[in-house]
Amino acid sequence: MRILAIIGALAIIGAVGAAIFFFGGFFSVAESQDDPAIVSWALAHVRAASVTRHATEQPPASLDDPATVKAGARAYATIGCVNCHGGPPDADWAKFSEGLKPVPADLKVMAKERTAAELFWAIKNGIKFTGMPSFGLAGASDAQIWTIVAYIKSLPTTTDADYKAWTASP
Ligand code: HEC
Repeated sequence: MRILAIIGALAIIGAVGAAIFFFGGFFSVAESQDDPAIVSWALAHVRAASVTRHATEQPPASLDDPATVKAGARAYATIGCVNCHGGPPDADWAKFSEGLKPVPADLKVMAKERTAAELFWAIKNGIKFTGMPSFGLAGASDAQIWTIVAYIKSLPTTTDADYKAWTASP
């Protein structure tokens, strides 16, 4: 019994200590400050596992269609992705994205590591505790998001010149 009382007392002290630490402002929410490596590692795995479990919607049509890929490149360039995730050297990348932690994912890598369903879910819903916005909330239609998924999936074989040609104003 005594041991249980000690465990209980320790739990209460721990909870009070945590409340003082977090509500008393001792925890730093500074984006400029790195998380301990183990926290970054854990958060990255929590994000990946969550995206995988939630991504159930399948593409409505083939994502290999060149017209769909092109439409996706245009949407990527116009609705803001390029500002954070970049593109060819003189694309509309924004300097402020250097201030984001975690840094915006490298979509060439994501094209290989994520399924189409996972990319769709992440773009539609955004990712908590990162700068990745929900484009569903921001008004993009599912059809438009699928075109962007098609474009991302094409990245391993798409050249800078393709992107420029596809996104040039008509
Ligand atoms: C304001 C900056 C910003 C904008 C705009 C933005 N992203 Fe992101 N994105 C991020 C950040 C930050 C992450 C988190 C990095 C990570 O997952 O490690 C991220 C993550 C992602 C991921 C990886 C998701 C995963 O499974 O881990 C994909 C895919 C993605 N973004 C695609 C897009 C697309 C497509 C657009 C445009 C429709 C877009 N992003 C717009 C900042 C942004």
